[in-house]
Amino acid sequence: MGAISIESISTLYVKYENDLREVRDAQRNFLQERGKSMKAQLDDLEAEITYLLLRELRPEVVVEIGTFYGWSTMWILSALRDNGTGHLHSFDIVDNVVRNVPEELSAQRWTFTKGNVREHLGRIPGKTDYLFIDADHGARFAHWYIDHVFPAVPAGTPTSVHDVFHGRRPKPLSEGSVIVKWLAEQGIEFFTPSAAKAPEVTAQLSVVKKDLGLDEPVRNSPDNPMIFFDLP
Ligand SMILES: C[S@@+](CC[C@H](N)C(=O)[O-])C[C@H]1O[C@@H](n2cnc3c(N)ncnc32)[C@H](O)[C@@H]1O
Repeated sequence: MGAISIESISTLYVKYENDLREVRDAQRNFLQERGKSMKAQLDDLEAEITYLLLRELRPEVVVEIGTFYGWSTMWILSALRDNGTGHLHSFDIVDNVVRNVPEELSAQRWTFTKGNVREHLGRIPGKTDYLFIDADHGARFAHWYIDHVFPAVPAGTPTSVHDVFHGRRPKPLSEGSVIVKWLAEQGIEFFTPSAAKAPEVTAQLSVVKKDLGLDEPVRNSPDNPMIFFDLP
């Protein structure tokens, strides 16, 4: 996806403003209707950035590891629907997502594999062109996907990993500490909207959203711990 910056993301907010407004409203309504039976994880900025990058990159094959109740799945599928192209392959041990994702989003563009992704490596398409990881947050899992998933997808694949920066530093012995160290060793820069790690990003994007009238929260959770980068 090339270097992401506050400026490039701001430009995407402006470019996709109207479609994003509709998706935000739909997601907010879905959450309100489901109440406590819907457990959503992704925070607003990181979900919106995922949507905007998917719109701009127009990937044909997206892989999502970790769906839980399907909150991120719905954001991703909304982007593919609005692109009019692209297929999502999702993996999770639990299948709550299957009951949650509306048919309007999933039909013809979604394949879900239930089970431990470590046993389904062969189902990750070799032509993956966007990789989304929000699954097991232990160090061992991070070593596994660095060693097995990253080499199985094309060089340069845009990738995001959730739950890295809940604080200014990733927790010791966590997935986050492994991936951040690995990125540094590879000389790969990452972008994060994390309130703890990059408060200037959160502040500037909040201004952009306010100017566009996109500031009513979808969820009230301000952490945004996700990182975004391109594989080497
Ligand atoms: C934090 S939740 C995902 C939240 C979701 N992305 C969202 O936006 O709401 C993590 C999910 O990863 C799944 N998971 C953990 N380890 C896994 C593995 N080895 N293979 C597949 N799924 C896994 C868990 O079952 C859980 O549902």
